[in-house]
Amino acid sequence: MASKLNDHILECVEDGIIVLDRDLRVRVFNHAAERTTRLSRQGTIGRPIADVFRTNPHLADQMSRTLDSGQSSLSHEAPLHLRDGTTRYVSLTCSPVTDAAGERLGVAAVFKDMTVIRELEERARHSDGLALLGTMAAGIAHEVKNPLGGIRGAAQILRNALEAGKTEGGTLLECADLVIQQVDRIDRLIEDLLDLGSPKKLRIGRVNVNKVLNDLVQLLRAETEAEEVRFDLGFDPSLPPVRGDEERLTQVFLNLIRNALDAVREHPGAGRVRLQSRFDLNTHPGRADHSPQPMIAVEIEDDGPGIRAADLDKLFTPYFTTKARGSGLGLAVSHKLVEDHGGAIKISSIYGKGTRVSVLLPAEESE
Ligand SMILES: Nc1ncnc2c1ncn2[C@@H]1O[C@H](COP(=O)(O)OP(=O)(O)OP(=O)(O)O)[C@@H](O)[C@H]1O
Ligand SMILES: [Mg+2]
Repeated sequence: MASKLNDHILECVEDGIIVLDRDLRVRVFNHAAERTTRLSRQGTIGRPIADVFRTNPHLADQMSRTLDSGQSSLSHEAPLHLRDGTTRYVSLTCSPVTDAAGERLGVAAVFKDMTVIRELEERARHSDGLALLGTMAAGIAHEVKNPLGGIRGAAQILRNALEAGKTEGGTLLECADLVIQQVDRIDRLIEDLLDLGSPKKLRIGRVNVNKVLNDLVQLLRAETEAEEVRFDLGFDPSLPPVRGDEERLTQVFLNLIRNALDAVREHPGAGRVRLQSRFDLNTHPGRADHSPQPMIAVEIEDDGPGIRAADLDKLFTPYFTTKARGSGLGLAVSHKLVEDHGGAIKISSIYGKGTRVSVLLPAEESE
């Protein structure tokens, strides 16, 4: 009676179930297993699994390893090649089957067809990519169209003046200068864009991050003298140097501090930009051998308007900007540069309260 009920349950579950005996021969092959593998129970029961899964030796191997080791194992998205030449993807869990005395009797393999989920994920990734491309295309169009408008206007004035034979006067020179300026602007924009694709080689040295930040603050203090902006500095004096390209890192921090300044300027009552540096022993992103990499962390915090939740995952997209005169390249370029240094940038923000940007960079290790 119990065995009949068990059989019935096996047939009803949605997951494929295959049970092998200790000789790795198929004992159970339920309906869902038939459906996913397109193999029939009659053709599989009693046969060695290596035979049944001749075109999928990795799956047969996983089952036999489970029997040998007595340890459960899991594959997340293992390909399952079908006889018609198509491939499905399954998550496969194999567990040893033992009796009450711990004697190994065989292996139970449970698998789920992940193909549809995988396709959906792929489609979502693809449309994310398209959305990003849309933001970028709109940004480039906007950035190039603006100066083009100016260039066309200037050319028109020059043309009219030439036609009328009026070649003297300052206006014509101004027009020519405007054309040069605007062309240079487009040129810089394209340069920045190319930088994103293939970074210039980093000139790695020992960089004193506190000094870089201090120099930037000096510069920006002079620039913001007339404004209600306060810089709070909290630098760890024992900070080890960073392995990096000083010029590039200066560019990164300048972008980030300028963003903080823009933020506090546009938010009534705001005006505090806090810069902190510290040694961070706990973080070690991406070392090949997984050994801890000592990092230094720089935090740039402002009490500006914050960032809308919906915008948070667009920040590093080239040309994403909410500013009338922003190019939207600052964060994209900074992100790329920090990653080229083996570091990371994280941005957290509470809308209406402020924003915190954390930059992690690999510290120079003392020998
Ligand atoms: N500290 C911040 N507070 C609020 N919003 C921010 C902050 N930093 C970045 N942002 C948002 O992220 C967007 C993208 O920033 P990014 O630096 O890439 O470009 P930008 O500042 O708009 O232009 P650019 O830096 O090229 O002059 C900004 O337009 C703004 O909406
Ligand atoms: Mg910016």
